[in-house]
Amino acid sequence: MQTVQDLPALRAAIRGWRSQGQTVGLVPTMGNLHAGHYSLLKLARARVDRVVASVFVNPTQFGPNEDFERYPRTLAQDQAGLAENGCDLLFAPEVATMYPFGAGQGASIRVPQVTETLEGAHRPGHFDGVATVVCKLFNMVQPDVAVFGQKDFQQLKVIERMVRDLALPVMVVGAPTQRADDGLALSSRNQYLSAEQRALAPQIHATLLQMRELVGKGHARHIVEEVAQSKLERAGFVPDYVAIRRAEDLAEPDASERTGLVALIAARLGTTRLIDNLQFD
Ligand code: PAF
Repeated sequence: MQTVQDLPALRAAIRGWRSQGQTVGLVPTMGNLHAGHYSLLKLARARVDRVVASVFVNPTQFGPNEDFERYPRTLAQDQAGLAENGCDLLFAPEVATMYPFGAGQGASIRVPQVTETLEGAHRPGHFDGVATVVCKLFNMVQPDVAVFGQKDFQQLKVIERMVRDLALPVMVVGAPTQRADDGLALSSRNQYLSAEQRALAPQIHATLLQMRELVGKGHARHIVEEVAQSKLERAGFVPDYVAIRRAEDLAEPDASERTGLVALIAARLGTTRLIDNLQFD
């Protein structure tokens, strides 16, 4: 596996593959890779000839009080893991490569509507940062396919919408969430949890399963959301939101809608913010 940091080297490698008629997939990440990321790589591998993974802790998607500084940076470990998991090229750019005019100072992509709720409401500017960096990565790598985890469900919707709206020539693939045996969605942020918090954390997934069951039994959406919220609060979480939405566009569903739904939770345990979701069909 080749590792490149700068754009000319990235483009040369991709030109070489393209000249042989090979297809290219991209798995964008912020590093500190785990089995969840490697499952994205596997999905890409099944669809294209060459797989590029990017590792870039993107400053523009972190708010002023978020964990940009302490976000785990483990490039050597990621390099080894990517090489073992079928990655052909690791693109690990510097901030100046991604933001030649300075982070937050250059052109920015805003995807309206789907960014204005849930994560977008709690993390102002977050999705502008995500859409901008992903658009740049698409321009740099020019992949045929790009794979993103469904764990960040709203992020996946934002990227799908950006690709459609801007007619970007890339197929976006959503990969199923990988979970620990007790149901906790794999996430780089899980390592911030104390042993006690780690023991509580699977209750998010358990709550999502209960929400699906209650909706299936015909309970009203608002009641199900309230029950879930209180359950999490009693367990010691501080939820940012507990919501049932239309999976397609994250709009609030009508009372009669029972299919095509997704339940989403963002909740804090101490200083760690966890998110997860579950589609209902
Ligand atoms: O999901 C992530 O790790 C990031 O939001 C992404 C898509 C790599 C953009 O920085």
